[in-house]
Amino acid sequence: GAPVEVDISSLNPGEMKTVEWRGKPVWIIKRTPEMVASLKKTDGKVADADSKRNPDEFTPEYARNEWRSRKPELLVAVGICTHLGCSPSSKFTPGPQPSLPDDWEGGFLCPCHGSTFDMAGRVFKNKPAPDNLQVPRHMFLSDTKLIIG
Ligand code: FES
Repeated sequence: GAPVEVDISSLNPGEMKTVEWRGKPVWIIKRTPEMVASLKKTDGKVADADSKRNPDEFTPEYARNEWRSRKPELLVAVGICTHLGCSPSSKFTPGPQPSLPDDWEGGFLCPCHGSTFDMAGRVFKNKPAPDNLQVPRHMFLSDTKLIIG
């Protein structure tokens, strides 16, 4: 498939936009400073904090960091659960919510078998999903233009 160019100029902190790339939904999330800070708190609770598992498939070199991204505030991830391919929903609001732990810091919940992911798409421990959400190859053409693929 061809690379997809995305204009992110209208994306505000805390917002997410979905584009299609190779028939898959790709999420672009502009994280707030709180969302970026939440990653420190989830570090010890996720299964693969440093994205070491299957890095060639799931995390390009420039995203093998705490944010899993090129820029701390901008996450680009394929919105498909690494368990059996369901579509996780965004649960950005921290705190108690149905089906989520009381110390929830924000992230994603897969409705199929309950896998949860943090604000960097890192899967929480002891969940059916084996891997973090895939970060597709991407780069910035400018501050407001991103190319995926
Ligand atoms: Fe997401 Fe099973 S498909 S938890």
